[in-house]
Amino acid sequence: MAGKMRTTTDFLIIGSGIAGLSYALKVAEHGRVLIITKAAAEESNTKYAQGGIAGVLQGPDTFESHINDTLNAGAGLCDPAVVRMVVTEGADRIREMISIGTRFDTTPGGDYDLAKEGGHSQHRVLHFKDSTGNEIERALLAAVHRHPNIEICTHYFVLDLITQHHLGEEVRRTSSGIRCYGAYVLNTTTKSVETILSRVTLMASGGVGQVYRSTTNPSIATGDGIAMVYRAKGQVKDMEFIQFHPTALYHPGESPAFLISEAVRGFGAVLKTATGESFMERYDERGSLAPRDIVARAIDYEMKMRGDEFVGLDCRSLDPEKFRDHFPMILEKCLSVGINPFESMIPVVPAAHYICGGVNVDEFGRTSIVGLYAAGECACTGLHGANRLASNSLLEGLVFSHRAAQHGIKNLATHTICQEVPDWNAEGMIQPNEWVLITHNRNELQQVMSNYVGIVRSDVRLKRALDRLRILYGETEALYERTVVSPALCELRNMITVGYLIVKSAMARKESVGLHYTLDYPARKN
Ligand code: SIN
Repeated sequence: MAGKMRTTTDFLIIGSGIAGLSYALKVAEHGRVLIITKAAAEESNTKYAQGGIAGVLQGPDTFESHINDTLNAGAGLCDPAVVRMVVTEGADRIREMISIGTRFDTTPGGDYDLAKEGGHSQHRVLHFKDSTGNEIERALLAAVHRHPNIEICTHYFVLDLITQHHLGEEVRRTSSGIRCYGAYVLNTTTKSVETILSRVTLMASGGVGQVYRSTTNPSIATGDGIAMVYRAKGQVKDMEFIQFHPTALYHPGESPAFLISEAVRGFGAVLKTATGESFMERYDERGSLAPRDIVARAIDYEMKMRGDEFVGLDCRSLDPEKFRDHFPMILEKCLSVGINPFESMIPVVPAAHYICGGVNVDEFGRTSIVGLYAAGECACTGLHGANRLASNSLLEGLVFSHRAAQHGIKNLATHTICQEVPDWNAEGMIQPNEWVLITHNRNELQQVMSNYVGIVRSDVRLKRALDRLRILYGETEALYERTVVSPALCELRNMITVGYLIVKSAMARKESVGLHYTLDYPARKN
């Protein structure tokens, strides 16, 4: 489609992580597929997943055990039917990934070498060394590139979904419900806005970690999809549940923060204070392998109480050979910044990692907007509840993209291309003369979210955040209304919207549960 001002396609996919690519492979048998991604094809949150993908493929583990662990981690807010569906259907979806060439580590006996992570009562995480996401992305992209019906447009930025709101007063008044007709996208090479008309659209745009100052997410994780759906008047939910990964490498100034996989703790590493005292037992009987909300909160508390800037992850008693074999990338990173994990503790801090909420979808990945599906991190399926169980997200992405594909294929005939969509109107827009304002506002947003909407919240902090976000919103919208669109400005706009949704959802929840912990309201009784 490169350079064409108007393109039509059967399936439009926004995002090129596990959900978008696995969906593409399925629907490509039934029509033309266009994948839009704002960076290089492989640049996605999927690529950075170290630990792996949870799944029950072999004994002694059972579906029931995985279901119970997921429900327990979710602190009473998971949808039990969705949990059962994802866990039981997940095994087949993982086998499909293996059949297209994804490699997972095995034992000398030929079984899968399963890792254990926080909140899991069994070893059940399939992995490829410590770069599982990268391996999955590699295999998926290779298959996608081979398929003649799939085109990937890289470095295209999606500005907005097209709905009947773009079609004029008459259509708006007479239509019932909201329908998606495609998207307006910015070709970042030609700087022109192109119109993509689709019969079915999948939002698979990933996470929101960049809304915070310190995150394990890559720079692309700016919540674009969630913000776009919200602007299109689609439903979003559970936005207050932001998961902070307990163990990002403490290396000030580095962005994104480098992840020290939870699998390292599953391998025997222990969290300790800077003075070498193991502390997690005081918070949870599962110690360093308690669910993430509990571990991140305990670390936050210990650091604040002691005035420390990090805690230590003690790997010194682990077998160096085995460690090297399991975690080559983590070892290389630590050594590159002067930390030898066999001699000293790895300094770690919590960092924003995953959003459990997002675009509200049903069991087929359908959003509240007709013709629009969502899968992957940007979707809220009911699997995670108030706190995601480690390594459940890649599984969720596979299961929901499969279901959305099946549903979309079955109902394709009910969706037609709408030719009446007007082209993007950029009349009267001027070049911004102060780019620095965008950078300032992005930095300020990250400060506000990290200071007031982090691991521990309160009414006063949330109110402060909201007041400041309102100012940032006003300034940024004024800029957006008069300047030509750019990815930096649109990302800022999206991030402010996501920040606003997180704060408003957090304010609405008058209890502490899972990842939403507030000083002003007691813990929810399950
Ligand atoms: C990790 O390897 O610790 C991250 C896995 C996940 O977030 O599910």
